[in-house]
Formats: sequence, C-alpha cells, structure tokens
Amino acid sequence: MNMHSSDAATAEEAIAAQEALPPLTNEDATRVAMQNTLLTPRFYTTDFAEMDAIDVTPVRADWDRLIAQMKSDPNKGHFKKTADWDHVDWDGMEPKLKAEFIDFLISSCTAEFSGCVLYKEMKRRGSNEDITTLFQLMARDEARHAGFINDALREAGIAVNLGFLTQSKKYTYFRPKFIYYATYLSEKIGYARYITIYRHLEAHPEYRFHPIFKWFREWCNDEFSHGEAFALLMKTDPKLTESLQNRLWIKFFLTAVFATMWVRDHQRPAFHAALGVDPAWYGQEVYRVTSEISRQVFPMTLDIDHPRWQPTLNRIQAANVQIVAGERQGGVAGKLKALGGRIKAGANFVALLTIPVQRNAVPDSPRLEPAY
Ligand SMILES: [Fe+2]
Ligand SMILES: [Fe+2]
Repeated sequence: MNMHSSDAATAEEAIAAQEALPPLTNEDATRVAMQNTLLTPRFYTTDFAEMDAIDVTPVRADWDRLIAQMKSDPNKGHFKKTADWDHVDWDGMEPKLKAEFIDFLISSCTAEFSGCVLYKEMKRRGSNEDITTLFQLMARDEARHAGFINDALREAGIAVNLGFLTQSKKYTYFRPKFIYYATYLSEKIGYARYITIYRHLEAHPEYRFHPIFKWFREWCNDEFSHGEAFALLMKTDPKLTESLQNRLWIKFFLTAVFATMWVRDHQRPAFHAALGVDPAWYGQEVYRVTSEISRQVFPMTLDIDHPRWQPTLNRIQAANVQIVAGERQGGVAGKLKALGGRIKAGANFVALLTIPVQRNAVPDSPRLEPAY
C-alpha cells in the first residue's frame, strides 16, 4: 500500500502521496486555488540567500529546544481519517453551506500549501543547516495539513491539484523581513483560529457538522511551533522589531492580516451560522489570542477594543460587498461601483491605521507554550 501524506517524513513524500491518489476530473477547485486577489491565499518567494545567512546563535538554547520538539514529530500519522471520521452527507448538505464550506476548505488547503512551497524552497536553496532543518520540518507539516484537507475535499468529489499549483500559481516576492512579519502572523493567527473553533465545538458538539474540526487541536500545535520559529528568527536581529520604520511595518501587517480575516470570514455567513459562531465574535476572539501571543516579539498590539475598530472593519466589509457586486454586474456601471468600493476600502484601511497602538515591553526570551 502506498504511504499516506500524514506519515510522510518530508514535504516531497507527502505531495507524492497526494499525487498518487486517483485523479479527479474537477478543475474548479484548482481554478479557485489559482486565484490571486487581496483576499485569497498567495504563494510567496523571497531572497533565499539573505534568509540562509541568518545566524541563530543569539537564540541558540530556545532554537535547539524547538527543533528537537519538531523533530520528535508528535503529530506523525495524525492527519488521516480514522474511526473518528464520521460520515459526511455531502449530498444532503444545504447548498449554500456546502458551497461556503467547500470554499473554506479550498482556501485553507491553498493557505497551508502556500506555507509548504515557501518552506520547501528555502530548504532546497539553503546551505545553513539550522535554517534548512527548520524549513524542512515546517514544509513537512504544511504538506500533511494540505494533504488532509484535500482528503476531506475528495469525499465531495473535489481536490486541489497541488503539483499543478506549485508549477502554475503566481508567486509574490516579499523581502525576508516582510516574510517574517506576515508568516509569523499567519502561523499565530492560524493557531488562534484552529483552537478557537476547536474549543467552541468542544463546548457545543451539536454544531460540529464535519469531522475535520476534531483534528484541530493537534493541528493548531503545529502552527504554534511554526510561529515560535519565526519569533526566534526575528529575535536574532533586534532591528527587525525595534526600529521606527519596522514598527510601522509591523503595525501595517497586523492591521492588514486582521482586516483581511474579518472580510474573508464575513463572506461565509452560512458556514459560520452552521458552526453556531458569530463572525464578529470569532474575529475579536482570534485577534485577542493572536495579540496576546504576539507580545512575545512585537513591540505593540493593536487596540482591538477601540471604539472605531469594529465599525471601521464593518465599513471595509461593506466596501468589499460593493466591489464583488460591481464585478459581478460588469459593464461601465459595474466597474465604477467596484472602483468606488476599492476607494472606500482603502480609505477605511487608512482609518484603521490611525487608531493608536498599545505599546508592549517585549521579553528577552520569546518562549511560549500553547495556552488556549
Ligand atoms: Fe499548517
Ligand atoms: Fe504552519
């Protein structure tokens, strides 16, 4: 029998295991995964030589502990269906929920795989053993995660073609420091999202409409470790988080990542209703967890309880609805409507940036354990 992606020791093996599964003719999923908009997960490339030159000596003790823990591989074999995987009645699922849930799975699979391709490439190009070891371990995890979501999609007769995506999806260049800010945040927000849903469904199992949510606790621990790795990478060079210019970048990335999540989640009302989750409550919970964690390395947190915070996010969300409606309508009127929406979204994003931050005294060692 062929190996399953959950047992793979490397990203390459996990991808090969997925590719070896019977092909599905559905091209829609891959087409959705190929989309590049402000709201869809992107693939990134960077200056790999600069990243390869990082010296982890200043954080050596924490680094070795983290790598040893990742090498011990507590989640090997976790990301596959077991007896706990209840039957999913895809045909009986309410059509709007089914469409939003499939969209959620495709976008999650693409986001997981986006991490995989970036980390795998860093491992392939690098020669610094500390760095290549870390990136190989993270690529392994993300390939398993993406493979597992694809397994869930396959039951609905859909799969994202991971090999095709690697070859054909557009790559966005980010210089290394932007990769650190964006990827650190996406790993930590990923942790916060998975654990918040997991805890909610633990308290309200009647809302667990799909078995994949049962896997979220172990899953979030992988993301937590990945975030820890980026925290340590940032700790190797104090300028990355302390200079005035970089503080502004950090504020920008925090705001962009939080606002994107708000808009994306509000696009899936039926999905959140089925989970028994109010997207605004969920968003604020996830921001709170992420902010608390990010105090390990970022010199500020966003004021998510500021009176202008949620109303401004809601205006960005309304502007996004206008953009989507304008694009659907087409023609000159539709284009103008979409343009108006983009201007509103941009102006409100700037308004979010004017909310004063809360300063944070960063501890010497960023070391944290998953606590939620
Ligand atoms: Fe992941
Ligand atoms: Fe991750």
